[in-house]
Amino acid sequence: MSELLHHDVLIVGGGLSGLRAAVAVHDAGHDVAVLSKVYPIRSHSGAAQGGVNASLGNHPDGADDSWELHAFDTIKGSDYLADQNRAEILAREAPARVIEMEHWGAYFSRFDDGRIAQRPFGGAGFPRTCYAADRTGHHLLHTLWQQCQKRGIEIYPEWQLTDIVTDAGGARGVVALHVQTGHLQVFSAGVVILAGGGHGRIYGSSTNAYINTGSATAAAYTAGARLEDMEFVQFHPTTLLGTNILISEGVRGEGGLLFNSKGERFMGDYAPSVMELAPRDIVARAIQTEVNEGRGFEGGYVQLDIRHLGADVIKSRLPGIRQIAMDFAGVDPIETPIPVQPAQHYSMGGVSSDENGQTDIEGLLAVGECSCVSVHGSNRLGGNSLLETLVFGKRAGDHAVSLLETGRGDADAAALADALARRERSIRDLSDRKSGERQAVIRREMQEVMTDDVGVYREEAGLARAVSALAALKERYRGVTLDSAGSRLNYDLIDALELGGMLELAHITALGALARTESRGSHWRTDHPARDDERWMKHTMATRDASGAPELAYDDVIVTTYEPMERKY
Ligand code: FUM
Repeated sequence: MSELLHHDVLIVGGGLSGLRAAVAVHDAGHDVAVLSKVYPIRSHSGAAQGGVNASLGNHPDGADDSWELHAFDTIKGSDYLADQNRAEILAREAPARVIEMEHWGAYFSRFDDGRIAQRPFGGAGFPRTCYAADRTGHHLLHTLWQQCQKRGIEIYPEWQLTDIVTDAGGARGVVALHVQTGHLQVFSAGVVILAGGGHGRIYGSSTNAYINTGSATAAAYTAGARLEDMEFVQFHPTTLLGTNILISEGVRGEGGLLFNSKGERFMGDYAPSVMELAPRDIVARAIQTEVNEGRGFEGGYVQLDIRHLGADVIKSRLPGIRQIAMDFAGVDPIETPIPVQPAQHYSMGGVSSDENGQTDIEGLLAVGECSCVSVHGSNRLGGNSLLETLVFGKRAGDHAVSLLETGRGDADAAALADALARRERSIRDLSDRKSGERQAVIRREMQEVMTDDVGVYREEAGLARAVSALAALKERYRGVTLDSAGSRLNYDLIDALELGGMLELAHITALGALARTESRGSHWRTDHPARDDERWMKHTMATRDASGAPELAYDDVIVTTYEPMERKY
């Protein structure tokens, strides 16, 4: 066995939530390391554009804003599936986390009086989204990266998580593969924090980076953690035609208007009081309906028009969007509307965790998009995901420290050695397999199934088709083979390893969607078009049964003060 590496706290994932947790652990005086599948500043947090919510009240129209109203908007936006105590934490702690980032050097856009600028976002009663032009995630990620560098926090870049190691005392570490060399290593840890991001790449059409494969989510599921609310998948309404690169909600926040091929500003038919600034699920369905009913443009899109904002506003507040539109669609938004269509954007579901990141497994915490703290319920509001990383990243780091200080006991050394040996064996078997199917073929079919049958609109026949197709793909995956035999930078091997987990996550998503016979937030069943609180104001919980198959159960939603009501905009 190779040398065992140990850290008090090991964080898997180098995006915003992982780095924020790392700072919290370090500042409490404990040893912490971050293991990331990419160099951390390439994490997908850096792709977030539009902003981060906090009820600072800096906007001239925002003076009456409060954390309570932010919590209410979040819960209403979630279609009453969010756990309300956690949405309250998210909103209450938001101003402190955003100001802290400013003090650490985050490069926010500002109003003339010097205060952090805020823009309107969908589903928000007040303009409360703080931003750095349209590159907010990039600036926040670099700020936290600098904070980690300043503290000398140990980073393991380009290590692919393969397994979470558990014994009778819970999580004890991880097994990971060094991408550059192919070396397989076991890391032991007092506490493991998963911050591995979302799993949007189970879909073909997605705003997500190719790294968003859900490897941390899948590893937690395999280790015995429950996955929560996986059927709730956010489709961002405005992604660039063809490539599905994100065209920020900030564009509509700045005044962007949506038009169909008849020149109609169609949002009036769907959300007359807020128009383009309805929550994402509503705008995505509106666009999809326009396209499905023949009022879209040839190729399945609508137009997002910002010409009226003028060149100065576009260049100063939306420079990244302009560049993306010019580079990837050949369109300068100063002169021509942007062609947009909905695509997968965010996973509301993930590893079930409480307000401190605690999962079902002792010593295993989860935070950020790979987790389901249940602040977003069935539909996340734009600007709340960057916020979630900061609020719950810090809380998970603090909680890891308290777990360490109450004592985690000793790991079973055999469990660590066995996990490493098992993974070595399975990689050897995979590499030695001489004939079988290529992973890329199975992956593409999975992505097509998810995009075609588990999309913006869903119904029983399509979902049943998806469930059985995904079960069949899981079977075929057992015979997958590699084209590439080397150990260095062998992405064929890494992709094949990840595909097993992606298929599980896709299968659970489709199963949850088939079972949920109602429409709520992002989950819209054309055959069950109403919300059904009586039966379905419940969280879906998925676990592996004894045979390794997914099994669904249901938990109550935590309600504090906000009685569910019809969600109208
Ligand atoms: O539209 C956007 O800028 C994305 C923001 C978010 O997902 O919160």
